[in-house]
Amino acid sequence: MVSGKILVVDDEENMQKSLKALLGREGYEVKLASNGEEAIRLAGDETFPILITDLRMDGMDGMDTYRAIKEQSPQTLAIIITGHASLKSAIEAIRLGAYDYLVKPFKPDEILFTVRRALEHQQLVEENVHLQGELGEKFRFANIIGKSGPMEEVFQLVRKVAVSNVTVLLRGESGTGKELVARAIHYNSRRSEKRFIGVSCGALPETLLESELFGYEKGAFTGALKRKQGLFEVADGGTIFLDEIADLSLSTQMKLLRVLQEQEFQRVGGTELIKVNLRLISATNKDLEPAIKDGSFREELYYRVNVVSISLPPLRERKEDVPLLVRHFLKKHQADNTKECCKRKKVAPETMGLLMAYHWPGNVRQLENVVERAIALSNSSVISENDLPSQIRHNSQLLSDELIPGFPDQLGNLTFQKARENFEKQFLQRAILKNRGNVSATSREIKLSRRHFYEKMKSYHIDPRKTS
Ligand SMILES: Nc1ncnc2c1ncn2[C@@H]1O[C@H](COP(=O)(O)OP(=O)(O)OP(=O)(O)O)[C@@H](O)[C@H]1O
Ligand SMILES: [Mg+2]
Repeated sequence: MVSGKILVVDDEENMQKSLKALLGREGYEVKLASNGEEAIRLAGDETFPILITDLRMDGMDGMDTYRAIKEQSPQTLAIIITGHASLKSAIEAIRLGAYDYLVKPFKPDEILFTVRRALEHQQLVEENVHLQGELGEKFRFANIIGKSGPMEEVFQLVRKVAVSNVTVLLRGESGTGKELVARAIHYNSRRSEKRFIGVSCGALPETLLESELFGYEKGAFTGALKRKQGLFEVADGGTIFLDEIADLSLSTQMKLLRVLQEQEFQRVGGTELIKVNLRLISATNKDLEPAIKDGSFREELYYRVNVVSISLPPLRERKEDVPLLVRHFLKKHQADNTKECCKRKKVAPETMGLLMAYHWPGNVRQLENVVERAIALSNSSVISENDLPSQIRHNSQLLSDELIPGFPDQLGNLTFQKARENFEKQFLQRAILKNRGNVSATSREIKLSRRHFYEKMKSYHIDPRKTS
């Protein structure tokens, strides 16, 4: 908020007094100084949105005073007061950045009007700065939602790599936001004015992909009727995003490696070397390491593309982000819905519970689809369980405590074998506990032979005496 503090500088005591009385009556807080030096000192202690200063004064003149104050508080606006004789210099003062001027003698209304207008102007400027700050932040990361620990780590890395030129590999299951992050890196980098070009490496057959990437010369192949620029050329100065990089053929991998090493390439059917300045961001939802082992991904290329890797966590490992994402997608999709009933929908708490319990194999993309579908299906202002696809209602029930007591609500990355072991160990421990450490009674109760029971206890390091 802009305050109503005004600093008045004038070497005439009468002028100081009458301005203080006039402005004070209007509720402004007024401080007085009789020369430039004193004014600068006062402005060092507190910020004045408005400076009213005489132009001609002994020592520092009004403009020098203003310049010095502005250094400390750039938002301060100056209103210059001047005698008739120096009107020309008052106009010059405006040119140099003063906000307005008043010629002596002026009417009380004139100065009040000018002050009010200056304050309004300042309010606008301040709101604008605030707004721009907000927009800047929005542009940056506001469309990447997540407050969980794993997402915080992602944000930190993204911030770091964005300002550098480093080659980034984004890893993560399908729908975790790899492309979203790739764009965020580009639009927060020094290359943001240049293009971001995304290419899905798996979508095209090898020859077509190569002619897309490298371009071709006229007559390079049947149908090449004229020369065509490749995407590497189009993206020059900007960022090229190679999605599903594991799907590149070995021969295209070799060619890409050369582009990365030399920052130059030839069009298909051409001999001319084309120089480019590119930043590469690539993405994969498969692990590249096994692909290197089985020979389908070149190791040298792996080191080139994987200078910094950022792993996007699957949604099931950051369930605390589910409600945030749901709210985000509700807002996003209700905004483009014109039906009155589709506006301002809420999600019932039980429904949110189901959404949080689900394991989301399709990650954020799947959640977005589910929310969009629910908005369309629900006829009331509340989204209920019935608006969710059956696998979410069903699956979540399977995972809920009521059906299988003691079942963990997150599967984590357990193998079947490990999950089974965990279960058996807990089950046996509880059964022994219930029977106060009595092995015979326990084995009778759970209908497991004593021999078998002892074997199990040995393999799980269960000591019945400690369980009694
Ligand atoms: N953290 C997030 N916040 C908001 N929206 C997200 C987030 N992550 C993903 N999305 C949205 O989910 C959808 C899928 O994201 P994106 O295309 O970036 O995933 P991806 O990892 O590239 O998936 P794929 O491997 O299938 O190409 C997009 O609509 C994207 O806007
Ligand atoms: Mg993608």
